Amino acid sequence: MSNYSIKHFEEYFQVYRKSIRDPELFWEEIAEEHFVWRKRWNSVLKWDFKKPEIKWFGGAQLNITENCIDRHLRTKGDKTAIIFEPNNPNEEALHISYKELHDRVTRMSNVLKDKGVKKGDRVCIYLPMIPELAVALLACARIGAIHSVVFAGFSSTALSSRINDSECKVIITSDGSYRGSKTIDLKGIVDDALEKCPCVETALVVKRINSEITMKKGRDLWLQPLLDQAIPHCEPEIMEAEDPLFILYTSGSTGKPKGMVHSTAGYMIYSAYTFKNIFNYKDPDVYWCTADIGWITGHSYIVYGPLANGATTLMFEGVPSYPDFGRFWEIVEKHKVNQLYTAPTAIRALAKENISFIENHDLSSLKVLGSVGEPINEEAWHWYNDNVGKKKSPIVDTWWQTETGGIMISPIPYCTPTKPTYATLPFPGIQPALMDEHGVEIKGNQVDGRLCIKFPWPSIARTIWGDHQRYKETYFTAYKDMYFTGDGALRDEVGYYRITGRVDDVIIVSGHNLGTAPIEDSINEHPAVAESAIVGFPHDVKGNALYGFVTLKETGESRVHENLRKEINQIITEHIGPIAKLDKIQFVTGLPKTRSGKIMRRILRKIAGNDINNLGDTSTLLNPEVVDDIIKGAL
Ligand code: WTA
Repeated sequence: MSNYSIKHFEEYFQVYRKSIRDPELFWEEIAEEHFVWRKRWNSVLKWDFKKPEIKWFGGAQLNITENCIDRHLRTKGDKTAIIFEPNNPNEEALHISYKELHDRVTRMSNVLKDKGVKKGDRVCIYLPMIPELAVALLACARIGAIHSVVFAGFSSTALSSRINDSECKVIITSDGSYRGSKTIDLKGIVDDALEKCPCVETALVVKRINSEITMKKGRDLWLQPLLDQAIPHCEPEIMEAEDPLFILYTSGSTGKPKGMVHSTAGYMIYSAYTFKNIFNYKDPDVYWCTADIGWITGHSYIVYGPLANGATTLMFEGVPSYPDFGRFWEIVEKHKVNQLYTAPTAIRALAKENISFIENHDLSSLKVLGSVGEPINEEAWHWYNDNVGKKKSPIVDTWWQTETGGIMISPIPYCTPTKPTYATLPFPGIQPALMDEHGVEIKGNQVDGRLCIKFPWPSIARTIWGDHQRYKETYFTAYKDMYFTGDGALRDEVGYYRITGRVDDVIIVSGHNLGTAPIEDSINEHPAVAESAIVGFPHDVKGNALYGFVTLKETGESRVHENLRKEINQIITEHIGPIAKLDKIQFVTGLPKTRSGKIMRRILRKIAGNDINNLGDTSTLLNPEVVDDIIKGAL
């Protein structure tokens, strides 16, 4: 039996049982056999969910880039590490070997060092999906700097608040980005953001679209000439196991985004181990995850997990619809992709298009299909299985979170029998629990509750940057001695899990987490708006879309409302980004409130979802009369 590579269902159970019986021994064996260390650990695990404090492999020293690059050079130096497929299909794809990746990463490491970046400093990365993005992460990791990638679809306000929160010293960006037939002025967004970021000393700019941009003297530098001058050798910084590797912001149900901090050793082990098993990766497979590296999926399953396994990982710069809806299938055929990892929202969008887009391409290389980011509905699951996998590629519906660092509940392909809409079983080392509203664990099968995790796993986020108290309150307070996920789940008769969705005020739109509070806060800044409440409602492509109920300081005519709708979405785009735009905006005379003044979102959610026959008891509201008005005006 090999713990590292699980081959059949019985073996999964054996490995799982072992991981629960003696977690320390289990993870220690994996750490020992599959990674390179500069110094061995003193203890495998120390933890206390009350504080909370979690330490894996304390005392060990390593550098993650030695594990992701250097150690492969001898045996796989010429193997392709990264395939870069550009936005424009007529531009040539790049095949970057492990040797070349080493060259690029060490050069960029030296550029960063030259700009004064030291171990522990934060570097913001705001780049499109081009090779420099992956290289930038690894260059930071090489020199011990903490990277904070901000998805390049966020607005300048969102960018500046993230830069300031973690006080980044340097930002790596580009002149612009390609997105289908459009170009986006990334540097302009960065310039706006940096006006509010005194902490940033240097902006390193990649030339991608050759646009006219302004370079601020003393701050902005073109990256390429610096890379050309740098030497392709850089000793890796020796890191402690628990040193932070990166910060990645995720939306919370309240307040500002949470900078989740991931540490080095545990994250490396868990992302690598899950990658190997959940994608059944075997040399020389070509693996493609369509996520953006701006999200956790890209960190763990485009960069670190695949490279730690010496895999070939494909990065795609573009969008599924350009030049037409056959683009994904063209890429699968062209690069003979073996594992495809994408999101339900992309599957639903592609399923709406003519089937000939798929039929024109040879997809026979595919062996495993992955799904992530939100619950996959039955129809999308079957469409994916029938048309993309031709019923012979298992679907791995992977449940996890930015906070968990790696996949937590998922089938193992060719091992776990799949079941549509079910993420199935916990990965080795993961101990899920379903809890009732009184904080009691619900045992047995055919039950549902709130999903918690009872025991630490190596890649759990260690804190929220600068706010450990918030970390404790958000994840470790609702249920005693448990990590609370914020999701609801059910467990079927054989123990398979199905994630039913968020139970807090986070709404998942097209696979992106959006907190309602920051959106409401930005709308409320419009001078005409008195108050607002955002809820989600079902949408056939995005999964959920956003519905805003807005009260105005003075009620105007409906003619004005159209303009107001545009202005509100404009404000949201400026504060957060276009992903948070509202699909529907209803102007109402009042929002339903409890006697203590809290907005009753439950009622608004039902109205938005057109489920008005069971609104429950509204008589206890402070203002029950508004409910009928809202129903009458519902969009
Ligand atoms: C949701 C993405 C159902 C869930 C990796 C979680 C899912 C949130 C699934 C985290 C899935 C993710 N089935 N729901 N397979 N995967 N989710 O932080 O609500 O962007 O809490 O991490 O996405 O989103 P995040």
